[in-house]
Amino acid sequence: MDRLKGKIAIVTGTGSGIGRAIAQRFVDEGASVVVADIAGAEEEAAKLGKATVACTIGVSCSADIQAMIRTTTERFGRLDILVNNAGVESKQAPTADYAEDEFDRVIAINLRGVFLGMQYGIPALLASGGGSIINMASIAALVGFPTAVAYTASKGSVIQMTKTAALEYAIQNVRMNAICPGVIWTPMVERFTGGSAAAREQFAQIEPVKRMGTPKEIAAMALFMASDEASFVTGTALPVAGGYVAQ
Ligand SMILES: NC(=O)c1ccc[n+]([C@@H]2O[C@H](COP(=O)([O-])OP(=O)(O)OC[C@H]3O[C@@H](n4cnc5c(N)ncnc54)[C@H](O)[C@@H]3O)[C@@H](O)[C@H]2O)c1
Repeated sequence: MDRLKGKIAIVTGTGSGIGRAIAQRFVDEGASVVVADIAGAEEEAAKLGKATVACTIGVSCSADIQAMIRTTTERFGRLDILVNNAGVESKQAPTADYAEDEFDRVIAINLRGVFLGMQYGIPALLASGGGSIINMASIAALVGFPTAVAYTASKGSVIQMTKTAALEYAIQNVRMNAICPGVIWTPMVERFTGGSAAAREQFAQIEPVKRMGTPKEIAAMALFMASDEASFVTGTALPVAGGYVAQ
């Protein structure tokens, strides 16, 4: 309790899955949270209570991201933590058959969206004297996943952006870290497995622990990275993946 007492946080992609769990945990730990999503932000903010503000945004839209940061500083006076979590799964096809417009769509949300969050979030964090940015990557950033070229490219680049910005702002006390979730049971994975219990079970088996992770398990890592306990942790890309990348 109270590990984020008095902190002001933005979490994108809060209408579902991992982002929802992070926003909930941050509120439970004493933070005020701006919940930002392309859909469902108002409902989520209402559920989370008075310490929250809703922002309806598309993360690949520069004006939306700027408005999100402005809303936060106007409402709360500062920004301490930014979690760039919003993202989409990609359609599947081998690289030579991959549709250009699908590649552009996934890169716009998963990569440009994180870039814009950092670009407009960093000045606000600097104005607060420092803070923590957490970018949601994936195990698909660390190893290849056949038929997922747009997704793997977007998530791999998120790690490189995180490391680059971590070096740029280390001396100014803005920490940047990426989380690389394994297979986490969320609506994204439900869509990906087509809602079939057999497909779900088969997907879970790719994890050495032989189960999927939960959004709460990712939220626990986000909490650590956001908190002052992680004061010497920057420039990392940490798998939370049931042993997947140990293979
Ligand atoms: N679930 C997994 O197994 C898994 C594994 C690795 C990484 N991730 C990453 O974790 C993050 C969250 O995934 P999830 O599983 O909770 O997915 P999800 O689909 O359950 O939730 C994603 C949220 O992002 C929002 N969103 C999508 N496009 C947006 C946009 N353009 N602007 C603003 N919001 C937008 C959606 O409305 C939704 O609320 C994503 O970046 C995803 O790539 C998930």
